Amino acid sequence: MANVITRTAANTANTVVDWVNERAPGLAPMYRKHMSEYYAPKNFNIFYIFGVLSIVVLVNQILTGIFLTMHYKPSAAEAFSSVEYIMRDVQYGWLIRYMHSTGASLFFVAVYLHMFRGLMYGSYQKPRELVWILGMLIYLVLMAEAFLGYVLPWGQMSFWGAKVIISLFGAFPVIGNGLTEWIMGDYLPGDATLNRFFALHVIALPLVLLLLVVLHIGALHEVGSNNPDGVEIKKGPKGNRWDANKPADGIPFHPYYTVKDTFYIGCFLILAAFIIFFTPALGGWFLEHDNFTEANRLVTPSHIKPVWYYTPYYAMLRVVPDKLFGVLVMFGAIAILFAVPWLDRAKVRSYRYRGLMSKVLLGLFAITFVWLGKIGAGTGTDPVETIIGRVLTFFYFAFFITMPLWTKIDSTKPVPERVTTHD
Ligand code: HEM
Repeated sequence: MANVITRTAANTANTVVDWVNERAPGLAPMYRKHMSEYYAPKNFNIFYIFGVLSIVVLVNQILTGIFLTMHYKPSAAEAFSSVEYIMRDVQYGWLIRYMHSTGASLFFVAVYLHMFRGLMYGSYQKPRELVWILGMLIYLVLMAEAFLGYVLPWGQMSFWGAKVIISLFGAFPVIGNGLTEWIMGDYLPGDATLNRFFALHVIALPLVLLLLVVLHIGALHEVGSNNPDGVEIKKGPKGNRWDANKPADGIPFHPYYTVKDTFYIGCFLILAAFIIFFTPALGGWFLEHDNFTEANRLVTPSHIKPVWYYTPYYAMLRVVPDKLFGVLVMFGAIAILFAVPWLDRAKVRSYRYRGLMSKVLLGLFAITFVWLGKIGAGTGTDPVETIIGRVLTFFYFAFFITMPLWTKIDSTKPVPERVTTHD
């Protein structure tokens, strides 16, 4: 009996597939190109999971966002109480909101690790420069998207965070004040600000983000994935494959990596569920305590700071004494990342085959970024911390500006002909 049911189900599925194929003959080749015949290097390690995890979080943000939008009211008078309503009265509203707020932070955890993987394995080097540039555009849009979203609950930190960040544009000479007013639609963040931020957050930027992600993966699939060894996978009969036309060191993305990814997605979801159910504010790191109080333009919070994923840049802004220069340094720190494919002159991609100097500098860079993040999350009143912040900011820029030099003079190890994992 079970056999008959399975056979009937398989036949029905085949009929549906045939029916679709006849009407949209382009779909099956697309599926083959991106899934069953996308040959990914067989030596991917755990760092290769963060791209897929970013997609998982993106889907979560869109789905939970749709449900939040059904109950949220984008007006200064009602926004805060509509969020309280979601938390207390809407069926599972608390769950949906915490899935969305936790998802925002986990998005950045995944994206930062994804970017660091790129730096480790030289994934931005030729021919993957476009993949990196599209990734950087995603990063910019993601930061804007998260900032706009944080303003929506109209808590104290939403209001004052928006005020501080939008006022930064006031630092630009001549156009500064006009620009600030134009962005806010008022002299202080208010109804107009909230309305436009809502429109941008729920529709404009998500569309841009989705488009960029499609282009990012499309660009990658044109040139193929890099891997921890940083060598191209070998094509042709030299390898151990039965089919001479298939890459010797590549395995079909589906089913091999889809199965592997499913396991890691499960682990990631367990971690996410733990945070959502037990500590959604994560000690003020994912949701700041001040944001549980309604926005009040007459009361400034004692300590205005952005969410953790912006704090490395916020630290740079604060430790530079001049406001305009601070703004330029802050935006410059992000902009310089776009240039990495051209700053790196190393002949080998992966840090595995680079010299000690490159390894130490990359390690110091990671420490610098995290340390700046810690300083940016602090009160900003400790003079010693300010000095350390300046040194770290200097190192951050020095790392990139001198990259053409140290990547060129550093020693390299012989690169293997084929990836080092063999079956
Ligand atoms: C929404 C955010 C993002 C999503 C959904 C996403 C998705 C992906 C996916 C699925 C892959 C292929 C699997 C993998 O290699 O992990 C990938 C590869 C890659 N991504 Fe992203 N990405 C995002 C953001 C970024 C950012 C911000 C950067 C860097 C600026 C970046 C740079 C790269 C690079 C260089 C590769 C190729 C890696 C290699 O082949 O070694 N991505 N991305």
